[in-house]
Amino acid sequence: MFGIFGGDDRNKKNNKAKTKDLATVDKGYRLADKYEIIKKLGEGGFGAAFLVKSLTANVVVNYVAKAQKLTDNPAQNEDLITRFKRESNTLQKLGNAHGQIPSLFDFFEFEGNFYLIQEYVKGQTLSDVLIAKLQKKNTFSPQEAIEITLSLLEVLIKVHDENVIHRDIKPQNIILREGDNKPVLIDFGLIKESNRHSSRNNGILPIRTNVWQSHVSE
Ligand SMILES: Nc1ncnc2c1ncn2[C@@H]1O[C@H](COP(=O)(O)OP(=O)(O)O)[C@@H](O)[C@H]1O
Ligand SMILES: [Mg+2]
Repeated sequence: MFGIFGGDDRNKKNNKAKTKDLATVDKGYRLADKYEIIKKLGEGGFGAAFLVKSLTANVVVNYVAKAQKLTDNPAQNEDLITRFKRESNTLQKLGNAHGQIPSLFDFFEFEGNFYLIQEYVKGQTLSDVLIAKLQKKNTFSPQEAIEITLSLLEVLIKVHDENVIHRDIKPQNIILREGDNKPVLIDFGLIKESNRHSSRNNGILPIRTNVWQSHVSE
């Protein structure tokens, strides 16, 4: 679709020395002259997430850029990059299939790091909403809790129908979307693809149209 994994294996050796330290990537930094960082949303052991704006669109468009941090160990880097590509492929597949999963817009290598550009979901994480409520000695009503849970279960049915297991479902990875207040499932970094035959497709596994599969052997 985007030709995003098209055959550029320059970084296969993943020489850490030539990669940009993600700790120095922050507000105002430009990614491949395509996106500019507005602010850092979070930084974990294996990467960082940024709110970015497009530099190529004629209108203001914001996205979330996730970056994969590399290590000094080339073998571990191979594994990290493979997992990151898997996260991209999953978003590409599921983001188009369900409105409560962010869409994938771009994936590229820049200064030795890998970046995934996804739909920006305006809202707060369920975790932040819960903390704010608890601070006011408040919480969700049973009705609200049931609505959020049922809506999320519908998303999970879709995820499982595509033979994907998320493996990291927690309040920090659920955004309550501004406007319709629906839960949006994010962070497919720990997903596993299952060989389980879905009960909804009569045991016929869907054909995988994995864009980068032909370029990388796991
Ligand atoms: N699509 C998105 N829209 C809005 N905010 C996002 C989106 N993806 C991630 N975030 C924010 O960035 C944080 C970190 O992103 P996440 O994908 O959970 O990465 P990780 O937990 O692996 O660092 C999230 O908790 C959320 O606050
Ligand atoms: Mg997360």
